[in-house]
Amino acid sequence: MVDLVFDGVVVAKAQVNIALIKYWGKAPAGRPEETNLPAVPSLSVSLDGLWTETSVRFDPDAATDHVTLDGERLEGEPLARCVALLDRVRELSDVASPFAVQSTNHVPTAAGLASSASGMAALAAAAVRCAGLGSGTGELASRIARIGSGSAARSIFGGWVAWDGPAARSLFPRDHLDVAVVIAIVDAERKTIGSRIAMNRTRESSPFYKGWVEQSQDTFVEGCEALERRDLVGLISAMEASTMRMHACAMGARPPILYWKPPSLAVIEQVQRLRSDGDLVLGWTMDAGPNVKVLCPGHDVQRVADTLARVDGVQRILISRPGRGVFVDVR
Ligand code: PMV
Repeated sequence: MVDLVFDGVVVAKAQVNIALIKYWGKAPAGRPEETNLPAVPSLSVSLDGLWTETSVRFDPDAATDHVTLDGERLEGEPLARCVALLDRVRELSDVASPFAVQSTNHVPTAAGLASSASGMAALAAAAVRCAGLGSGTGELASRIARIGSGSAARSIFGGWVAWDGPAARSLFPRDHLDVAVVIAIVDAERKTIGSRIAMNRTRESSPFYKGWVEQSQDTFVEGCEALERRDLVGLISAMEASTMRMHACAMGARPPILYWKPPSLAVIEQVQRLRSDGDLVLGWTMDAGPNVKVLCPGHDVQRVADTLARVDGVQRILISRPGRGVFVDVR
């Protein structure tokens, strides 16, 4: 162990991402650094304007890591996730010192969006840089972010991102395809069952899990190929199939896992109606919560947003576009 540590502050900003092809299921993990290795490949887009800012410094006088999020000190499971990530940074850099971490979410609190991806990506990027392990913007930061939250591995990179191994990787820059994402908030409450517990329960008890894993590579390749040829219709078709299969698989668990609320279905039906009316290209996806994210061409975004805002039960609409990767600054 070395006892001389960097005495500056590193600040990282990372954005949330949404999966078009879903991560749902973990490969068996033996060692701590194998935490959250995905059982299936996923494809995502990082989202502009929804981000976490995290500052990290060594605090050699502290007894343990301390982390505040939006001014509140973390304890219990949320703290344990950060400590697991920071332990890996200490192990790789051979430094023993605890870290002092301050984090602020700029994902609207009422959005009901998981900010764990942006939060863990910002934490990993800042800690990697602080410990002298590299820029914090590449493969190592992605591997380490994954320990805190699987989907955080993807938020290290901007634009279109694939995750099919220990780290995520950039596939295409954000301007590769001109799209917007409309997020229909139907419930801003905390999710009823967290993704970690839900994924494990699905693997252990859903009879559909085996089929989900078996088809995942084909759906992933289909999505990536559609994206490569800028085929939004093809990408939406793969995204909706992946979404439906993920939720069907979770619904098959014991006890069943159901994230959908009546207004979620009303939004999906409106998307289908707009599509069958003929002149709009758009598609929907949902994650471990009831809000619906709708992908459409950039120039149609206002029309889609206005229509979805009128659906019964929609509380709020957010609009986003493909965003940048993590930004790291040393002060
Ligand atoms: O990173 P986690 O553990 O919050 O898992 C996220 C899983 C989904 O959001 C449902 C799908 C995905 O690929 O992001």
